[in-house]
Amino acid sequence: MIKRQIIKTADGSKTLYLPEMDEQYHSVNGAITESNYVFIEKGYLFHKSKTPTIFEVGFGTGLNCLLTAVLAEKNKRPTTFFTIEKFPLDEDLIQKLNYGKIISEEARVLFKEIHNSEWNKTIQISKHFSLFKLNSDLTQNGLEIIDNFDIVYFDAFGPDKQAEMWKPEIFRKIFRKCSPGCVFVTYSAKGEVRRQLAASGYKMERLPGPPGKIHMLRGIK
Ligand SMILES: C[S@@+](CC[C@H](N)C(=O)[O-])C[C@H]1O[C@@H](n2cnc3c(N)ncnc32)[C@H](O)[C@@H]1O
Repeated sequence: MIKRQIIKTADGSKTLYLPEMDEQYHSVNGAITESNYVFIEKGYLFHKSKTPTIFEVGFGTGLNCLLTAVLAEKNKRPTTFFTIEKFPLDEDLIQKLNYGKIISEEARVLFKEIHNSEWNKTIQISKHFSLFKLNSDLTQNGLEIIDNFDIVYFDAFGPDKQAEMWKPEIFRKIFRKCSPGCVFVTYSAKGEVRRQLAASGYKMERLPGPPGKIHMLRGIK
């Protein structure tokens, strides 16, 4: 069994730490702060589609999903969210995450709905937000069930910790499923990652990073 510990990050929001991997699910400089900046501001809000389809690598705690759902409702922007996760979290850990409490009462309710929703099925979570949580291994899955992503949240564990998730064949597989103009965002700014994403077909840019990081990456198809 994978050992996970709850830790508090700099903005007061919690995240999970994996001692065996020495890796966290989010930045210790602020879990909500990082998610909001990298995935929401530079990805979800940057893409101009009125009805975006998102593909997330690594559902994890569901924080990126929650922040997206909150904004989809606030902006009345019908959003379809596909996410893949190999190791879904146990209920007792999910209960200990404090995102809803920090964000809003609406977020608390959405967080519950998001986690209670069935896996491997499209679920309408709220008026403007539908969710498909795929319980599968990205290194093995051909992503046959989905097409035309507008935005990719690439939120795997770091390239130095889980190199198999950052391989050219994974980037190419995702690229093929992206619609023209698709926005790919990740917190990593590693040169090798940038080069491999560019080789897959994205036009890459290096943006200022969230607190604690100098840069992050964004690619456009
Ligand atoms: C950095 S965390 C994701 C954080 C998440 N986006 C959130 O908002 O909490 C990376 C996630 O990738 C998942 N993962 C690891 N290997 C995977 C694989 N081969 N296929 C799919 N998911 C994987 C991990 O279990 C973990 O939940």
